[in-house]
Amino acid sequence: MTRPVPGAGEPTRGLLVVGAAEVATMSGGPRRGTAQADPAIAPPGTAIACLDGRIVAVAPEAEAAEALAAALEAGGRHPHAVDVLDASGATVTPGLVDAHTHLLFAGSREDEVAMRARGATYLEILAGGGGILSTVRATRAASEQVLLAHGRRWIGQMLRTGTTTVEAKSGYGLDTATELRLLAVAGRLAAEGPADVVPTFLGAHAVPPEVRAAHPGDVTAATEAYVATVIAEQLPAVAAQGIARSCDVFCEAGVFSADQARRILLAARALGLDIRLHADELAPSGGAELAAELGALSADHLGAPSPAGIAALASAAADAAEGARPVVAVLLPTVPWFLGLDAHEPARELIDAGVPVALATDFNPGTSPVTSLPLVMTSAVLTLRLDPAEALVATTVNAATALGLADRGVLAPGLRADLVAWDVPTHAQIPYWAGADLARAVVVRGHVVAHGRPGAS
Ligand code: NIG
Ligand code: FE
Repeated sequence: MTRPVPGAGEPTRGLLVVGAAEVATMSGGPRRGTAQADPAIAPPGTAIACLDGRIVAVAPEAEAAEALAAALEAGGRHPHAVDVLDASGATVTPGLVDAHTHLLFAGSREDEVAMRARGATYLEILAGGGGILSTVRATRAASEQVLLAHGRRWIGQMLRTGTTTVEAKSGYGLDTATELRLLAVAGRLAAEGPADVVPTFLGAHAVPPEVRAAHPGDVTAATEAYVATVIAEQLPAVAAQGIARSCDVFCEAGVFSADQARRILLAARALGLDIRLHADELAPSGGAELAAELGALSADHLGAPSPAGIAALASAAADAAEGARPVVAVLLPTVPWFLGLDAHEPARELIDAGVPVALATDFNPGTSPVTSLPLVMTSAVLTLRLDPAEALVATTVNAATALGLADRGVLAPGLRADLVAWDVPTHAQIPYWAGADLARAVVVRGHVVAHGRPGAS
């Protein structure tokens, strides 16, 4: 079950999380290289005190309780106005951050699974007017109510598996009005809570059918015409309404080239948006190189980066070691699994090269109808050979960094009180019990919003 966070201004009680078998704090910020395997486990007996949406203390239980009472009194409240979350035997981690989803769509595409089983490829289905374009038709036809209900449904699923922040891309509108409508839905979902929703503009996800029809038989001209519309019309409208934090492009051979992505992303940056990109999802297309060149927040997918692309991300990470923001590699291992591809993201190579790695679901109707980050962690451990600790870092602090958010992904005083109590005694078991329902309690801004097992805690 899930329930909403009380509204702003409502007097709130403190929350004290006690008894955890293990508290993985992630303190120290984003991690890369060998540090990616360090979840910063707190000493036994550590409790977490939360008040007014923030963490007040991560300390031995008596000390955390004292800090909470003092903070309540300082705010003119009764020092015992505290709810206790019994995390006995559980592992407590920061709330998970899903740094890459295509949450905003209507419909489903189970028919394509059967088409691929009969030999069609993902890009062939798209070129034939299906794939992304089939979801564009369903999304354009959907009312705001339908889109909101869809968003609520799947965010609810994400919350129940420990996700407290969800990035949400547009990209199934492909015309200015629908792209704006999708981002407005993301804004409504963020305002509703309890999960936080971080909106990304992805107008350059595919070339829409009406633009293809205006350039019959000339995909190059159609793509160029649409890139011009994204830059001249869509981006300024999105920026004027302030309804996206960042801009993404599907940079892929046969979709948008690195040169086209560069032009779009530079225009986005000039309008004050952060930038990120779908890079080398299916074939090397200069995406990783471009992310490094532009200092993007993240280079996502990386199913097939070139050696030069990996080297470029490694050198961007080395440059960032002095305090600048690194380019985070956001890997989406359920995509090759769902597409039935043999190729896997070179996660070990990226970590060994010093690139900070995050993991995300890529939740979308075509390549990953997957909402569970714990399942993604399982996939990363089994197919990308990540340690459980590396996978946890990749879904907390490094994922928050990929979104440019320094206020979450870590359990430390002053940061958002988003956390999960998992029904296992060590973080190493989170990816191990593949597909199990492990979130005993999910806390957003200091309020328990979901119980994995009714009646637990
Ligand atoms: O990340 N590749 C581009 N976008 C999505 C898939 C979108 C779709 O197939 O609907 C992805 O894989
Ligand atoms: Fe994606």
